[in-house]
Amino acid sequence: MTQVKMTVNGKTASGDVEGRTLLAQFLRDDQGLTGTHIGCDTSQCGACVVHVNGKAVKACTMLAIEADGATVDTIEGQANADGSLNVIQQAFQDHHGLQCGFCTPGMVMSAAALLKDNPKPTEAEVRHYLDGNICRCTGYHNIVKAIMAASGQDVGAIAAE
Ligand code: FES
Ligand code: FES
Repeated sequence: MTQVKMTVNGKTASGDVEGRTLLAQFLRDDQGLTGTHIGCDTSQCGACVVHVNGKAVKACTMLAIEADGATVDTIEGQANADGSLNVIQQAFQDHHGLQCGFCTPGMVMSAAALLKDNPKPTEAEVRHYLDGNICRCTGYHNIVKAIMAASGQDVGAIAAE
């Protein structure tokens, strides 16, 4: 076992992990941060997206020991300081960007990374960016709409599904 220590959602998180322990497993099983979902474990679905040193990463593709010393942000750290939904989370609620919610943490984390790099993405850019996030419920339309709305753009022009 190897001890790892990282900053998760602004707090120090440490634990003993095996060499094969994935970051997603460390967050869920060791730290109890079960908002990071595991949908495939093979780097396809995007349900496990977190930010590592500010970049979106699929937490099932990274070993916990690789994140030693890193700054990690998960869905649990996304709400505003007063506990209210942040602008992206609120937009998902307002525009019905979720149904079962399984993909939602990864979608929100991917959206946050996109809007950080590209604050006013086009619809095509949003759809392209979400290439690595699978949703089995919504048909994506309202997710795209929510992300566009979160970026402050008028989503009235986006046709209804
Ligand atoms: S669980 Fe990581 S991409 Fe699906
Ligand atoms: S809301 Fe169910 S998988 Fe996306």
